[in-house]
Amino acid sequence: MKKDILFVIKIANKKDTNGCIKLSEDSWPEWWAKNETLGKKHIRECVKGKRCLIATANKEIVGFFVWGNLWNKIHIQGIFVKENYRKAGIATKFLEKATRIAEKQGFKEVISDCDISNKKSISFHLKNGFKKNGLIKKHWDNEDSYVFSKKI
Ligand SMILES: CC(C)(COP(=O)(O)OP(=O)(O)OC[C@H]1O[C@@H](n2cnc3c(N)ncnc32)[C@H](O)[C@@H]1OP(=O)(O)O)[C@@H](O)C(=O)NCCC(=O)NCCS
Repeated sequence: MKKDILFVIKIANKKDTNGCIKLSEDSWPEWWAKNETLGKKHIRECVKGKRCLIATANKEIVGFFVWGNLWNKIHIQGIFVKENYRKAGIATKFLEKATRIAEKQGFKEVISDCDISNKKSISFHLKNGFKKNGLIKKHWDNEDSYVFSKKI
């Protein structure tokens, strides 16, 4: 069942950068411990390029969504929703908004990937119309990843 949570989705501003970095660090501390400089640079670039969405609830950042551009596709590079705010449709709204932005910019497809053990994320992609169409061996943390794509 969907959780009934009031949230707002918007394109992140420069002032939201540190909040996104903090959330990303909390979500994946092992990766951040080894890649802090790269992680901060990536989020700053996404915010600057208007490729970062945030969800806020009671003025707190409770989720973020970042993507990159690749030929005629957009590539989802990170989705995270804080535990207590999950199952309320936030990730789905992120995807809808990013897709609308990408469509206006002329992109034709959304691609994404996730660890093969990440059941929630696999379900999220399939539920939202992605097709599983590839596998990357020994990807993040040396785990295999599924590749997903969806036409816009
Ligand atoms: C995956 C994640 C982003 C989903 O965010 P969310 O806001 O809870 O997703 P939504 O509420 O929009 O759910 C959409 C669909 O995703 C799937 N889903 C979400 N949470 C799920 C869960 N706990 N178990 C199974 N499926 C789940 C369902 O298909 C759901 O549709 P439904 O609500 O009609 O059943 C969130 O669980 C998360 O942040 N996980 C940790 C980080 C992560 O794994 N990111 C993805 C990396 S590729």
